[in-house]
Amino acid sequence: MRKSLEKTIVSLKSLLAVAALMTACLTGLGGGCLAQPASGDGAAIGLHGKRLFLRCASCHDISDSGVSRIGPNLRGVVGRKAGSFPGYAYSPAMKATDFVWTEAILDRWLTDPNTVVPGTSMAFGGLPKPEDRAAIIAYLANPAP
Ligand code: HEC
Repeated sequence: MRKSLEKTIVSLKSLLAVAALMTACLTGLGGGCLAQPASGDGAAIGLHGKRLFLRCASCHDISDSGVSRIGPNLRGVVGRKAGSFPGYAYSPAMKATDFVWTEAILDRWLTDPNTVVPGTSMAFGGLPKPEDRAAIIAYLANPAP
């Protein structure tokens, strides 16, 4: 009799622990459990963009490490002045530009980089599908941690 009461108390306690964890998660105390949308189109597009970014990742780091590879680091590139990532040796063509990366300009860039910055050193054939470009741009704007 005593044993089963103890068991009940133990399982009640673990239930409470789970409930507390879920509450922390929902209120954002759990380290951003809900930083990414958990379901729906947003998450699907984000995932698609993340997968597509593998094509860029050979040349671009997007972590906040400050590291650039063959291409400049892309952390926070949406809204950043073109050719401005510290320490990266841009092409003369890119250095001569004077614009900020918006989603619209990125869309043209990812279609064909040379139409935006003629003479750029980014050797990339372009993404022909508009939905692929949109997914990558969504990922650039909000990369997963
Ligand atoms: C073969 C290597 C390579 C690949 C693949 C590549 N890039 Fe680049 N990227 C570069 C280089 C090199 C530059 C610098 C261009 C310059 O200085 O003219 C650059 C520049 C950029 C810039 C401008 C950044 C700034 O600081 O102004 C953006 C945005 C960009 N790339 C996005 C992408 C995305 C998104 C992909 C994937 C769809 C991609 N790149 C694929 C090499 C690459």
